[in-house]
Amino acid sequence: MSDLGKLQSELLARITAATDEAALEALRVEALGKKGSISELLKTLGSISPEERKVRGPALNGLRDAVADAIAGRKAQLGDAALDARLKSETVDVSLPPRPTAQGSVHPISQVLEEITAIFADMGFAVAEGPDVEFDDYNFTKLNIPPNHPARQMQDTFYMSGGEVGKEANVLRTHTSPVQVRTMLAQKPPIRVISPGRAYRVDSDATHSPMFHQVEALVVDRGIHLGHLKWTIEEFCKAFFEIDAIELRARPSFFPFTEPSLEWDMRCDRSVPGQIKFGQGNDWLELGGSGMVNPKVLSGCGIDPAQYSGFAFGFGLDRMAMLKYAIPDIRGFFESDIRWLKHYGFAALDIPTLYGGLSK
Ligand code: PHE
Repeated sequence: MSDLGKLQSELLARITAATDEAALEALRVEALGKKGSISELLKTLGSISPEERKVRGPALNGLRDAVADAIAGRKAQLGDAALDARLKSETVDVSLPPRPTAQGSVHPISQVLEEITAIFADMGFAVAEGPDVEFDDYNFTKLNIPPNHPARQMQDTFYMSGGEVGKEANVLRTHTSPVQVRTMLAQKPPIRVISPGRAYRVDSDATHSPMFHQVEALVVDRGIHLGHLKWTIEEFCKAFFEIDAIELRARPSFFPFTEPSLEWDMRCDRSVPGQIKFGQGNDWLELGGSGMVNPKVLSGCGIDPAQYSGFAFGFGLDRMAMLKYAIPDIRGFFESDIRWLKHYGFAALDIPTLYGGLSK
């Protein structure tokens, strides 16, 4: 056997015998490294005759490639064997429950807002929105509450400093009713909108929060009367509270922007299974105000009261969430207590198909 043949079979035997990557690497350095045996042999090619080089050159290159291939092959073999060994020794327990991930929940206000929007969408209402910082004109004057009118005292208002009255938005809206004005200024009848959103008043106890939510409804068309108002409120309450035998009570009231005005209460009878869970005994619980849109408000917004009439109501959204989900204190909604949110929050927006019943 030639010297190269001997070297090759010796190297290949050692490569096959190598049992780990470190041994293989040592062999690679020994043969192919800068000072390796094959590298040294390659260097001698320069000092031999061209005829000899023609034979020895290809033979050396062949040796080098054979050794490099053998190292790569053995390396792959060792890698596969290591993986096999690991797969045999390690078992994956697929029945192990996944680690809990921190997950948020849907706030009851968001849930209720979705539910209400779905119910009214079924009845053909669109959603209208307005800003929280409102023009005095829209929050009061165009709703027939002129400056210095005693009715302004009904609502303890947060005023923003700096805003020039009449020119800049300068009040935190005290109700969602200014969205009525915005809608009527922007749109001709027929109008059917709800506007859920935040409202603000200087007020704070177990059932009042300085920031709270309302849902306003406005319908303006030809021939709209109190019957439409009553039907809409009843149907809405049945769908929202998921009770057919709802008991509602209307009390005469006063709002400058409606005439006549009514306030609505709902019966909460804890002795009847499935009835509203909140309150004591059989209380009447207040939902909010309503009425026929005052003709002055219609004409102030460019709608002819001789042709059109309308109704509006504004219900407390937080209060409705409290009633439906038995939440005793309004302040919990806005304290961001993780325990409260876990208890009252919803896993995902869950809108019962029941509301589809209204469109049947
Ligand atoms: N905006 C009134 C309030 O906040 C409620 C209301 C809305 C009354 C619409 C009549 C019509 O008290």
